[in-house]
Amino acid sequence: MTLLESLKQYTTVVADTGDIDAIRQHRPQDATTNPSLLYHAAQIPAYRHLVEEAAEQASDIGGSHAQMAEEFIDHYKKKSVARERVLIKIASTWEGIQAAAELEQEGIHCNLTLLFSFAQAIACAEAGVTLISPFVGRIYDWYKKEGGGKEIPPDQDPGVASVARIYNYYKKYGYKTQVMGASFRNVNQIIRLAGSDLLTISPDLLDQLEKTEGVVERKLDPANAQVSKDERLRLTEKAFRWMHNEDAMATEKLAEGIRKFNSDAQKLEEYALSQVAEKVG
Ligand code: E4P
Repeated sequence: MTLLESLKQYTTVVADTGDIDAIRQHRPQDATTNPSLLYHAAQIPAYRHLVEEAAEQASDIGGSHAQMAEEFIDHYKKKSVARERVLIKIASTWEGIQAAAELEQEGIHCNLTLLFSFAQAIACAEAGVTLISPFVGRIYDWYKKEGGGKEIPPDQDPGVASVARIYNYYKKYGYKTQVMGASFRNVNQIIRLAGSDLLTISPDLLDQLEKTEGVVERKLDPANAQVSKDERLRLTEKAFRWMHNEDAMATEKLAEGIRKFNSDAQKLEEYALSQVAEKVG
């Protein structure tokens, strides 16, 4: 048995990529992406024909270059995918979480991303969002840098510990929000979270899991979660802001994450504009 097959016994495996062939190859149940991954996928020569097709369709529809660029980016939205299979990614700021609560009321499912603090996780559960993506690797990166660049032993990995704590809290208090660990730097971090509801994994790490024979032991499970120590908290906006701000890593990583996704979304938009301009002259 491969590590991937073994992991799939406890956890829904999701592909974390914008690369369509990688999704096809690993046949995951779902896929996640983000502006950075999409921008990079759009530059892959093998997808030149898809870029051409999107630019063609956008130029046929016409309008200003900006409208056509928007059409270019929206091209794949129009493929028929059932509404309940699509989750809208929203940054886990207080405002993002409240917006997600309203969308969920209207039957629009949300994936609350850029999640680094326990406060963010509690607020998401209280808001009744469908899914959260706690970022293991970026938490690890912050603590590694803080410690002068020294690797942190796997059994002290703060990213892994953060997801385990959130999972246990959700299961202990019966929250329905699903936990999907994201942003992995190595296979060890993934294996240590076996049992999480979902894990979204990059194609490189999926390859490694698929090529390694072995059995993954379940680490997270609802029964063990019952003995976890965290008291149940109800967070007002004021309490959320205070608690989140007390966490320097989460405060910095959330702000940086929004800046980076926005900058890559803008690059994608500029790329779309250049492709449309090339098409219509
Ligand atoms: C997935 O949902 C996240 O956007 C992704 O895992 C982030 O990974 P990174 O920290 O490697 O950019």
